[in-house]
Amino acid sequence: MKKSWIIELIRSDAKTLNILQRIWLSVFPGSRNAAQDQSDHRKIFRGLLLHFRPRTVPESTLKLSHAWGLGVMAVVLVFLLLITGLLLKFTYSPFPDRAYDSIVYLNNQIPFGQLLRNIHRWSANGLLLVVFLHFLRVFYTGAFVAPRQFNWIIGLALFTAVIFSNFTGYLLPWDQISYWAITISTSMLDYIPGVGSVLKEWILGGAEPGQATLMNFYAIHTAILPTLLLFFLSFHFWRIRKADGLTIPRSPEEDLSVPGEMAETMPHLITREVALALIVLATIVLIAMFFDAPLADKANPGLSPNPTKAPWYFMGIQEMLMHFHPIYALLVIPVLLVFGLLSIPYINYDVSTVGIWFCSHKGRKMALVAMVFSTIATIAAVLFDEFVTTTVSVGPPNVISNGLLPFAIVLLICTGFYWLVKRSFTANKNEAIQALFTLLMTAFVILTLIGTWFRGAGMQLVWGSW
Ligand code: HEM
Repeated sequence: MKKSWIIELIRSDAKTLNILQRIWLSVFPGSRNAAQDQSDHRKIFRGLLLHFRPRTVPESTLKLSHAWGLGVMAVVLVFLLLITGLLLKFTYSPFPDRAYDSIVYLNNQIPFGQLLRNIHRWSANGLLLVVFLHFLRVFYTGAFVAPRQFNWIIGLALFTAVIFSNFTGYLLPWDQISYWAITISTSMLDYIPGVGSVLKEWILGGAEPGQATLMNFYAIHTAILPTLLLFFLSFHFWRIRKADGLTIPRSPEEDLSVPGEMAETMPHLITREVALALIVLATIVLIAMFFDAPLADKANPGLSPNPTKAPWYFMGIQEMLMHFHPIYALLVIPVLLVFGLLSIPYINYDVSTVGIWFCSHKGRKMALVAMVFSTIATIAAVLFDEFVTTTVSVGPPNVISNGLLPFAIVLLICTGFYWLVKRSFTANKNEAIQALFTLLMTAFVILTLIGTWFRGAGMQLVWGSW
């Protein structure tokens, strides 16, 4: 109806138009052929879309049970963070004497200010969780072997950028929680011999968090890391495209040589992605409506809270520090872990299991065994260290009794476990590596949970500190 009205107006040579209609026409000149226009617009939209996406994708990759939409969820959260972060910049003031008040002002005086902050905070936490799950799904579907090896490395760079975006953002409210969490996290660096203290001073811009720290963290959080994140994201997607899309999901019995059906990207993939994006948005807004982002009292450098804890994603390391000598907790183990993660795509992995969740039915069972064993062993080790070894103070220096010795025991357990599951399940290399990976990941998650929820005043073990 409206279109024919406009066409009538155009045809009437604008003589019969009133002022409002002429203004309308000056903004939207209309067309003599609306149907043709619509089809042209569709073509342009599809053309634009096909710059980023292939025209068709294997139908099987659309199955939710393959990628669980985790990568897409992460993308949605990254953009939600960029938008809400940009809006937060309008009121936030990165100076120790004003930062806290600017957050209080945002919460209490700006319409929807608290909601905006909540969305930003919960999206940031959600992103960490979603990226971790995406990382696990990529590992357990063997999606890191050629031609996706380097995308695993880019993924790790993205993961690092996400962690440090969270970490630098944590300080910005300048309240007691954030101030002391950053203090405790950076003071862990002091334990690294040689470079530790220099590194700490370099990060903080001084001996303790202050004006320089806040300015540095603000610049890194709002300019450097978002730029890096966008750069690595573009690289990540380009590599997915170069690898001809996602790994093809299949069950252990399925034959990969039979080519599967293809589906048009538009509408089949795009509608699924838009639906997922809306679900993520709705979930975050709902959470943000009911749960406020924490804000304690204004930072007081003279009064540390008890317990003083690092942000939850570093609690695994803080918990490790309670059981290992700092050289092992902060240097040897993290360096080995990072090296291990970087070398995963370059180990001689059998590519015939790519796309199969957990390699095989046996691989699934082994991963489950590794998870249960690791949960029990980690909890037992923490309790043992807490209630038995601390009361015994015998001879050798701390770096041996508390460092080399427990580290050697852990190494022995890992090696023993690898050979034991490999032999008792008559497993192949893929399945055994996967079991070892599960063992280590589970241990790290359990340590994080213990540190976050089961440590109370004086970092003593308590039954639930939530
Ligand atoms: C901000 C962080 C990240 C974002 C936004 C992101 C996004 C995505 C998206 C959208 C996909 C395709 C669809 C899907 O798998 O859901 C994907 C695939 C992939 N990602 Fe990520 N990713 C991130 C982090 C990571 C990490 C931490 C790793 C691993 C270390 C990783 C490795 C990969 C690989 C290898 C693929 C190809 C998977 C396949 O072919 O099946 N990504 N990513």
